[in-house]
Amino acid sequence: MEMQQQKDWKRMLLPYTQAVEELKVKFKSIRKEFIALDEYSPIEFVTGRVKKISSILEKAEKKSIPLDEIEEKIEDIAGIRIMCQFVEDIYRVIDIIRARDRKDLVVVEERDYITNMKISGYRSYHIIIKYPVQTGHGEKWIFAEIQIRTLAMNFWATIEHSLRYKYKQNMPKHIQERLNKAAEAAFLLDQEMAEIREEVLKCQESFQEESNLIADIFTSIQSLNTTKTKKDMNEIYEIFWALWEEGDMVKLKEFSKTLTGK
Ligand code: GTP
Ligand code: MG
Repeated sequence: MEMQQQKDWKRMLLPYTQAVEELKVKFKSIRKEFIALDEYSPIEFVTGRVKKISSILEKAEKKSIPLDEIEEKIEDIAGIRIMCQFVEDIYRVIDIIRARDRKDLVVVEERDYITNMKISGYRSYHIIIKYPVQTGHGEKWIFAEIQIRTLAMNFWATIEHSLRYKYKQNMPKHIQERLNKAAEAAFLLDQEMAEIREEVLKCQESFQEESNLIADIFTSIQSLNTTKTKKDMNEIYEIFWALWEEGDMVKLKEFSKTLTGK
């Protein structure tokens, strides 16, 4: 590639690099926020990349896109991938993105390859956005593609991608069949995980309930401090610890009620 050409590409791709970096920070921050608040994060991890020049040229060629229309016609020069534990999490992430439409990004198109699995076996949810990049030369709006998928979907897509890259058009039939079976297995894994999720959430709920109750009891006991004698207070603590050790939630609830007089 000639020097000038190389420089032109660099200039063109710079805002895409910036967009990928910014979007990665934004989605990673959402995860950090959930974790910091001791809440379950629908985002497991985030990756991003700028399409390689060779891949851009390949795609332009394949889709007969003139070089001066690349930026309007190729929507995935900037790409972000958001991985989730459960299929349900994907829809929470979609809602988060939709809520930001016309705030810090514009949603252009959604492609649901989860409900409409590709013939290849590919599953993922794609959102094409327009994203404003603030550059030293002013604002530039670019396309970016956000792929949202479960760990199982990602596992399959990564393997399929590398095999397809290796074999190009001549994927051996037995490998193709293996991939189809693997896609089926990934799908079943996601279903299995969804069932486990129900169980996990139920546990989290009762755990939350329990810790709220204990917090209530401690608040009540503290507020009694001003009116009760030290001996009375010790007695109350004794009762609490005994009940706590017994681990009987019903008795603890009753105890909490006697404290507040409700
Ligand atoms: P390209 O597939 O990139 O030519 O663009 P498109 O306009 O057909 O969009 P589409 O939504 O079909 O695919 C966009 C991206 O999704 C691709 O670049 C891949 O990252 C991913 N993808 C789509 N289909 C497959 C597939 O069958 N296998 C894998 N591994 N990835 C896929
Ligand atoms: Mg495609």
